[in-house]
Amino acid sequence: MATKSHLVLFFLLLVSCSILSHSKKLKANEPCKRFVLYFHDVMFNGTNQANATAAIIANPTDLSQTFKFGKFVVFDDPMTEDNNLLSRPVARAQGFYFYDMKTDFNAWFAYTLVFNSTKHKGTISILGADTMSEETRDLSVVGGTGDFFLTRGIATFRTEDVEGASYFRVQMDIKLYECYKN
Ligand SMILES: *[C@@H]1O[C@H](CO)[C@@H](O)[C@H](O)[C@H]1NC(C)=O
Ligand SMILES: *[C@@H]1O[C@H](CO)[C@@H](O)[C@H](O)[C@H]1NC(C)=O
Ligand SMILES: *[C@@H]1O[C@H](CO)[C@@H](O)[C@H](O)[C@H]1NC(C)=O
Repeated sequence: MATKSHLVLFFLLLVSCSILSHSKKLKANEPCKRFVLYFHDVMFNGTNQANATAAIIANPTDLSQTFKFGKFVVFDDPMTEDNNLLSRPVARAQGFYFYDMKTDFNAWFAYTLVFNSTKHKGTISILGADTMSEETRDLSVVGGTGDFFLTRGIATFRTEDVEGASYFRVQMDIKLYECYKN
């Protein structure tokens, strides 16, 4: 009986060891795909329909007007390869963010990069905390479709320009660590 349970234990150990070594092999240090794009957020102000690509859905609450707590924005923003707003977009960033910290500027983003060009077809879904007080912020790439089938990775944000409440630009350094398509 004792030897039997020992055998079972030994077997379990073997299995867990092989799982561990397998997960190590999956750990990637170098991105399999990487590209830098620029996100342009032009806020709708009531008269700029022609240019605006983002709109406020809910205003900040009195819990913290200073840090815009509760302000909710939906966007369909152009993504460009250089930092010029007027460059031809290579993708759209479609999603939302809201301010969710009462003691500092902090937003939560959830959006999908939609590629529809001869170069790329597919989507990349990104979400996470944008702690604006930090120089760079890492958000999670949680999945993808098409050319980016089942991808995962990190999107590093770096704010490049803020023009009051009407425009801001963020550099997004997108590093994919799982690529199933070339
Ligand atoms: C809205 O933005 C446009 C373009 O920047 C500007 O010309 C206009 O004065 C703004 N309108 C308001 C109400 O702020
Ligand atoms: C739209 O944006 C372009 C580029 O910034 C600018 O030249 C133009 O005046 C803007 N139009 C309006 C209506 O805001
Ligand atoms: C993608 O691009 C094609 C060709 O320009 C166009 O016909 C199609 O409507 C686009 N699809 C989306 C979702 O934008």
